[in-house]
Amino acid sequence: MKDIFKAPFVEEMKKMTANMYRLGWDERNGGNISWMLDEEEVGEYLDLSQVIRTIPIGFEAKELIGKIFIVTGTGKYFKNVMDDPETNLGIFKIAADGCTAELLWGYKDGGKFTSELPAHLMSHMARLSVDPENRVVMHTHPTYTLAMNYVHELDEKKFTHSLWEMCTECIVVFPDGIGVLPWMLCGTNSIGEATAEKMKEFRLVVWGMHGIYGAGKSLDETFGLIETVEKAAQIYILTAHLPRVNTIKDSEMKELAEYFGVNYRKDFLNL
Ligand code: 13P
Ligand code: ZN
Repeated sequence: MKDIFKAPFVEEMKKMTANMYRLGWDERNGGNISWMLDEEEVGEYLDLSQVIRTIPIGFEAKELIGKIFIVTGTGKYFKNVMDDPETNLGIFKIAADGCTAELLWGYKDGGKFTSELPAHLMSHMARLSVDPENRVVMHTHPTYTLAMNYVHELDEKKFTHSLWEMCTECIVVFPDGIGVLPWMLCGTNSIGEATAEKMKEFRLVVWGMHGIYGAGKSLDETFGLIETVEKAAQIYILTAHLPRVNTIKDSEMKELAEYFGVNYRKDFLNL
C-alpha cells in the first residue's frame, strides 16, 4: 500500500487550503472543500474495506452511493491542514443506504466533515447531472466578493454584469454567470437545496453576505473561477466610490465571448 500522506489528492488539498488561507479568504474555520476521488486511485493508498466509523449525513445522496470524497473537517482551520492533514481532512465513501458516510481515513480527533456537507453533496449531484466530469465543490469567504455583497444589488443579472465589466476576461472565464442566493441560514439542508438548484445553471453561486460556492473538474479549475470573480470584485470595490470614466461596453463583451467561442448568458447583457 502506498503512503497516503504522499497521495497527490492529499498534497493538492494541503496546498490549496494553505493558499486560500494566505489570500485571507478563509479566516478561522471559514470555507470548505469537497473533491470526488477516483476509487481505483484511492485504493492504492487505503484499504477500502476498512471503515473506521460511520457518520450520518442527514439527507439522502442516492446518486452518490459508492462515491469517495476527500472533505475538509467542520470547525477546522484551513491554515492547519498543511501540518496535520489527518485531523483536518477526511476521506469517506457514501454507503449503500445513501445516508451514511463510511470514514476511511482522517478526522483523527473524532471530528467530522464540514457542516456544509448538504450544500456540497447536493451541488455535486446537481453539477454531475449537467457535467459528468465535475469533481470539486469549493466554498470560501473571499474579501472583496463579500464586500461587494453589501453595496451591490443581489440580483444575478446585475451582479454578473458588474463583474463582467471589471476585467476583460471575466465573460470568457465565467460566461454562464453567477447565481445569487439571498442571506440564508448556513449549514442546513435548505441552503443546500437552494445552492444545488442554482448549480444546475451556474458553476458559481454567491451566498448573500456570506461567501461563494464554485464547482469544477479540478481544484485548480474551481479555484480559478472563484479567483477571477474575486479579482473583478476587488476592482469593483476599489473603483465603486470614484467617477467611472471608462467601461467595457456590452458590445465588446459580446465580441469577446464570440471570439473565444464561449456559450454566454446573452440575457445578462443589455444589447
Ligand atoms: P465548517 O467549519 O463546518 O466547514 O464551516 C465553515 C463555513 O464556512 C460555514 O459556512
Ligand atoms: Zn462559510
